[in-house]
Amino acid sequence: MQEFVQLNSSSASLVIALTPVAEIVHWGKRLAPLTETQWSAFVGSQRRAIANARLDQDVPLTLCPELGRGSFGSPGIEGHRDGEHSMPRFEPVLVHQDDAHQVSIVCEDALAALRLVVQFQLDASSNVLRQKMTLTNLGETPYQLQKLALTLPVPARANCLESYYGRWSREFQAHRQTIEHGAWSVENRRGRTSHEYFPGCLVGTAHFSEQQGEVWSFHLGWSGNHQWRCEAKSDGRRFVQAGELLLPGEITLAPAQSYSTPEWFASYSAQGVNGIRTHQHRFVREQIVPFDRNEPRPVHLNTWEGIYFDHDPDYICQMASEAAALGVERFIIDDGWFIGRNDDTSSLGDWVLDKTKYPQGLMPVIEHVQRLGMTFGLWVEPEMVNPDSELFRRHPEWLLAAAGYEAPTGRNQYLLDLQIPECFNYLFSTLDALLSDYPIGYLKWDMNRELVQPTHNGRAAVHGQTMALYRLIDQLIARHPDVEIESCASGGGRIDYEILKRTCRFWTSDCNDALERQSIQKHMGIFFPPEVMGAHIGPYHSHTTRRSHDIQLRGLTALTGHMGVELDPVKAAADEKQAFARYIALHKHHRYLLHHGNSFYLDSSDQSRWVYGVEYNGDMLVVVCQLRMPDYALVAPILLPNLDIEKWYRVSMLDYPAASAGLMKPNQGWWNESSLVVKGEWLCQVGLSLPLLDPESGLLLSVEVL
Ligand code: DGJ
Repeated sequence: MQEFVQLNSSSASLVIALTPVAEIVHWGKRLAPLTETQWSAFVGSQRRAIANARLDQDVPLTLCPELGRGSFGSPGIEGHRDGEHSMPRFEPVLVHQDDAHQVSIVCEDALAALRLVVQFQLDASSNVLRQKMTLTNLGETPYQLQKLALTLPVPARANCLESYYGRWSREFQAHRQTIEHGAWSVENRRGRTSHEYFPGCLVGTAHFSEQQGEVWSFHLGWSGNHQWRCEAKSDGRRFVQAGELLLPGEITLAPAQSYSTPEWFASYSAQGVNGIRTHQHRFVREQIVPFDRNEPRPVHLNTWEGIYFDHDPDYICQMASEAAALGVERFIIDDGWFIGRNDDTSSLGDWVLDKTKYPQGLMPVIEHVQRLGMTFGLWVEPEMVNPDSELFRRHPEWLLAAAGYEAPTGRNQYLLDLQIPECFNYLFSTLDALLSDYPIGYLKWDMNRELVQPTHNGRAAVHGQTMALYRLIDQLIARHPDVEIESCASGGGRIDYEILKRTCRFWTSDCNDALERQSIQKHMGIFFPPEVMGAHIGPYHSHTTRRSHDIQLRGLTALTGHMGVELDPVKAAADEKQAFARYIALHKHHRYLLHHGNSFYLDSSDQSRWVYGVEYNGDMLVVVCQLRMPDYALVAPILLPNLDIEKWYRVSMLDYPAASAGLMKPNQGWWNESSLVVKGEWLCQVGLSLPLLDPESGLLLSVEVL
């Protein structure tokens, strides 16, 4: 067998030693391809010392760290065969390497009768590394698997961890900590990706920032339970580990049966977090999203915050007419359209139109929407059932619950067990009929309750439920390939790459407060490009925070994502409507750049202001957001990255708060002229002066190459 494997992309390398055991010796900055003759010198230069008062031999951090080999950190595998073989040790037996970018390493433990296949693929275009492991039971008795986790080493200098916590209406909050001794560890047992712990993190050199430092990123593409660990071992070596969190008894491998981990996605940047954004966005665009990237992402109007459950088709048609006049391109009727659904206490499961609300049916509304040139979308929440529903009365046995225990409701609802074939078929045929009967181009697929005692046939069933959900969506898409699906779970409770392979957009958060949205979108945007990030202009008074923001901050905050409007345009004042139309027009004008360009944030000496930009072929759009009172009385000039220092650029102020600014005298800055022609060298190296902004306001600049 060959002695090593090296996968290279334009900026990263993964080097794995294969003898005597499989161990990653480098994951990070690109190395020139190693030749066979260089290998022994290279590997010799990495040979570790053996510390006194420890094991007498070197302990490798193998692809799946093994307790049975003396690795005392968190193992990659935990399981047993009726109590035996709980500490397997894998030896590589075969390597399949098709090209310079992917490899499968087959390892076996003959005594434990287990085979472990570890697959790596380093995407040449995006520099993102995908990894997955599959364990097969080669024995004649069942193997009970408790854990199979993916592990990647990071160097000792990467001691700064950024993880993301949250809750309903407050997703993607960044938390930094130093990892020096011991570990950071989180476990998500909520049965969906969760608001609480996004399955991803960054690890970097001290004080890594948007533009500076080395950063390694990790994301697990999985919509069920997950567990994470970033560990500094007592010998100083570090690693990040993640996998599906398996409940007791959840996975038992029969002879010849296999279990595969979810895929995880890692990348390395020597240019701070912005390098990670570049890699992950390119990867998602080229490898994950299912929609046609040449088609513009349509601007939405969603009825939820406009009318909630109060559906009157004539009024909804008026909303649609107003929406079309604003420039909206897709009109979505949210919750409240199906039989008896007047609040959130009933009817989930009964996916039949409420004829008391829609006596003429849904078609007149859809036709009206289509006549206005918009496509039509509808809200559903297929995995759920209310106790007060026909479905529950007919099939109380379809609940995903543990027999004999009382299950708590969440938003007055329970989950359906998608592994019951009759239940799965009922959902498939109901949704299939809905999509066949009506010209629906878009489903907002919601999921508003966590899994409590998720059990199928008496056994823990988050894994099976999650796989069945993927199957349900996949089968529907196969039947209706033109329908797009949005992933929503009380806002951003199900945001990950595996669900994104079959959905086209996330409902980022139920919080439409533009100030809160700034941080939610910033951190979500490390892993996801803006075109999958649902971002809506909400009402003046935010429905979730009661804070109020004028249209300027709301407009600029929604404009940078997959834009939409979430309010009642019939009730909006004329000047507000004009402003909605203006921001929608601005978005459409710059949509190609926003949804295809390279996103970045600037490091700033003043943490009260965030500068977000997107660059495409030398043109740039920049949004400056003043979150709170500025730290200084003047604004430091901003240095714009990635411009050609020899070229000239036109800088234009596209949007800027009305003259009533409180912190600044009306003065003679260049922005009063509205545009300026300057040399790239000055913008990159000296900077651009900007006006002072009042708290909770923003501005929009364009930079065009001449
Ligand atoms: C929760 C979602 O996040 C909201 O946007 C809305 O669709 C409601 N559910 C409807 O019940």
